[in-house]
Amino acid sequence: MYDFKIEAADKPTLYRDLASALEGLVAGEPDGIANMANAAALIWESLPDVNWVGFYRNVGGELIVGPFQGRPACIRIPFGTGVCGVAAETRQVQRIEDVHAFPGHIACDSASNSEIVVPIIRDGELLGVLDIDSPNFARFDAEDEAGVVRLAEIMVTAL
Ligand code: SME
Repeated sequence: MYDFKIEAADKPTLYRDLASALEGLVAGEPDGIANMANAAALIWESLPDVNWVGFYRNVGGELIVGPFQGRPACIRIPFGTGVCGVAAETRQVQRIEDVHAFPGHIACDSASNSEIVVPIIRDGELLGVLDIDSPNFARFDAEDEAGVVRLAEIMVTAL
């Protein structure tokens, strides 16, 4: 068992420690499902105020839920629909302060109020997205975005 205790005074330090723990966790393991499962668990354990952490995979142009922590979630999301689908279609990070104001938001867990979704792209191919939800409004700021983008970059070589 791995026992990571990541407690940092500020967000950049927290995400630096988290990124380094994630790199260690996926190092040398070629199985993408194992790596997504451990990544979701590590992020879930390390970030405060989150109620869903996980992956949607691009399976033939549709997002299908992958390994995650949190409540059971919507299984299939078309590109362009909801926060995850828009991230997949536009390949742009979606950092949403109030998901209820996002057109087409898919409410998997009614506790979610803000969300960040980062596309995972390798050699021009969208592999999937990393999705983190929070019960707090505006939970994710620019420092969170930089940190979560780094985590998604690490996953590029872990899938
Ligand atoms: N709220 C997301 C759906 C996925 S869940 O948050 C796990 C969306 O609108 O894409």
